[in-house]
Amino acid sequence: MMNPFSYHNPTRIHFGEGQIAAITNEIPKSSKVMVLYGGGSIKANGVYDQVVKALSEHQWIEFSGIEPNPQYDTLMKAVEQIKAEGVDYLLAVGGGSVVDGTKFVAAAACYEGQDPWDMWSKGISVKHALPIGCILTLPATGSESNKASVVSRGNDKIGYMSSKIQPVFAVLDPTTTLSLSPRQISNGVVDAYVHVMEQYLTFPVDAKVQDRFAEGLLLTLIEEGPKALTNPDDLAVRANIMWSATQALNGLIGVGVPQDWVTHMIGHELTGNYGIDHARTLSIVLPAVMKERRQEKAAKLLQYAERIFGITEGSDDERIDAAIAKTEAFFKAMQVPTRLKDVELGESDIDVLLSGLEKHGMTALGEHGKIGIADSEAILRTAL
Ligand code: NZQ
Ligand code: ZN
Repeated sequence: MMNPFSYHNPTRIHFGEGQIAAITNEIPKSSKVMVLYGGGSIKANGVYDQVVKALSEHQWIEFSGIEPNPQYDTLMKAVEQIKAEGVDYLLAVGGGSVVDGTKFVAAAACYEGQDPWDMWSKGISVKHALPIGCILTLPATGSESNKASVVSRGNDKIGYMSSKIQPVFAVLDPTTTLSLSPRQISNGVVDAYVHVMEQYLTFPVDAKVQDRFAEGLLLTLIEEGPKALTNPDDLAVRANIMWSATQALNGLIGVGVPQDWVTHMIGHELTGNYGIDHARTLSIVLPAVMKERRQEKAAKLLQYAERIFGITEGSDDERIDAAIAKTEAFFKAMQVPTRLKDVELGESDIDVLLSGLEKHGMTALGEHGKIGIADSEAILRTAL
């Protein structure tokens, strides 16, 4: 039977073409707003102009240059500016990095201790944070309507969760995603897929709704993901991907069920130490996790094989092998790497990754909390 849970997702979603205009009424006119964004994609695709128009009656300033895998040093510059100028509302415009970075800024601007990094690195709880709204331009992370934020300081890439930093509202206009490069489209689809897998591919607890919602998201991503690459102008495809990515990590499919997240935790070490795109770390690690943990995950692997790929013939082992092969084939169709060697990493890099896991306390991972360093090593060796 599924576990007891309480569920509340407070983020209001404005979905569809033209919805950027909704920010005019979402953000109180009395507030002083900071618009935070990344390296300038929003200027090239017209999103910035739409924001300027929608905020014509607001008082606002901007902060640009939040990089992919947002860095503490950059974010602290925004905090300084917020304090100097009395900003009291944050609007993140961009992908997961901008939204995650803005979440850190929102908490850091109100932090009363010595170093705001302690919240993320030591798990000190956020007492206050500035309100955040966001306009998402890259469907992938789910950050637009969840309480998670992943920030890096040097090689330390740390995930953190607090309901205080969850956006008040999120605008999801699929037309903003038409300017994405094929690489970022692929990354987004694969990240969303693995978010579903981390909450689905564990062990059965008779959670029929969560399982079928999760399977619906996986099937949609398999159907639409490759189309986004072959028919890049198809807005209907983008809309389905965008809504799938939000639903994949807004908490809904994860209620009352065991969760894994080992793929993400190993993946964060690959990004922190070697700068590999987040989703590309996941497409390398997940197939190895499926292989290494096939006994613990057997029941769900067989359900996944049947319901996602229609695999019903053969022994249990054969069906599991076929499901793993199909998963790898999907990742290949999305043009992402599936082995460490595809990103020019090898055996000699494994120790660096394992020390990172140890340093960050990632020594009891997985749905049973039993994946220690030796198990992570086995996973990484399988990923070679
Ligand atoms: O900086 P700009 O110029 O905006 O360019 C970005 C960036 O270079 C570009 N981009 C975004 N929207 C675009 C666009 N280019 C053209 N057209 C558009 N519409 O894409 C590049 C990558 O952006 P980024 O925000 O880094 O990508 P993504 O959304 O995949 O976010 C990845 C980050 O989110 C974290 C990851 O670890 C990583 O740091 N995650 C956050 C999670 C969460 N908060 O729940 C969960 C995830 O598992 C993940 O860990
Ligand atoms: Zn992810």
